[in-house]
Amino acid sequence: VEPDAAWVEEIKRLAEARNATILAHNYQIPAIQDIADHTGDSLALSRIAAETDADEIIFCGVHFMAETAKILSPEKRVLIPDERAGCSLADSITADDLRAWKADYPDAVVVSYVNTTAEVKGLTDICCTSSNAVDVVRSIDPDRDVLFLPDQFLGAHVKRETGRDNIHIWAGECHVHAGINGSELTEQTEAHPEAELFIHPECGCATSALYLAGEGIVPEDRVKILSTGGMIDAARQSKSGQVLVATEVGMLHQLRQAAPEIDFRAVNEKAACPYMKMITPAALLRCLTEGRDEVFVAPDVAERARRSVERMIAIGN
Ligand code: 13P
Ligand code: SF4
Repeated sequence: VEPDAAWVEEIKRLAEARNATILAHNYQIPAIQDIADHTGDSLALSRIAAETDADEIIFCGVHFMAETAKILSPEKRVLIPDERAGCSLADSITADDLRAWKADYPDAVVVSYVNTTAEVKGLTDICCTSSNAVDVVRSIDPDRDVLFLPDQFLGAHVKRETGRDNIHIWAGECHVHAGINGSELTEQTEAHPEAELFIHPECGCATSALYLAGEGIVPEDRVKILSTGGMIDAARQSKSGQVLVATEVGMLHQLRQAAPEIDFRAVNEKAACPYMKMITPAALLRCLTEGRDEVFVAPDVAERARRSVERMIAIGN
């Protein structure tokens, strides 16, 4: 199936007939981003999912995102074009792992990145995304221990920003972002010495970026650690001619649309998420034609998870 004019027309016709809204994460392929009613980062899409009037939410992203939409809008049908679209980061901690960790720190506040299963969210006090992780931790009494999970690089970023030493960090990682490493970043900054750096906090190279700034190799004001949504805002405000981007490559499409005059380059061109890319034009067409794959979350799990997700939504980004 090619994402041609006939495909666009058919997708729009089917979505309208189902009274469905199509949401796409910034890491989707360009054709999916362009046909969606809303394209954005995890926090923005959660907010839209919580507020939409549509009968159905078609979530073009990975499974935990569609689950989050279902948790927030349990009365709506939530469909994902391919339910096999998982997430290596969400897989890095199970509910049993978290129960055992909590038993070691019974008084700690549990902060989970949204890249987790509904069951893990159900054992969480407050969820966060990369755009509000620092604010979420700042909202917690500094005397309380925090268990931060599952991403070690985002956890290290939060620990640096808040200066708290009572944050315990789970050693999980996203294989796509962890693979964007410090040596690639150094190579690219040497080849493009005038460029600004946009770095997603899940990246393996986030510490190297701060090292480059700390040593004055790249001026400090040119190094920005940002969520995918934060990158778009920063692109609109940037005066740079060139930006090196360390995150999943799907992001470049939104950035180029937001600031067409800037030359955006991937720090690692091979950083593509295989799960995000399972949402193909054919899968979206099948989803709207056959009404699958439907996403279900057990009501008791959803009930517990909703509290932690609603707290996240209430805290600014
Ligand atoms: P954000 O959209 O929150 O920046 O998330 C990035 C990500 O890796 C989602 O899978
Ligand atoms: Fe998960 Fe990483 Fe893919 Fe995001 S990019 S969905 S964190 S595997």
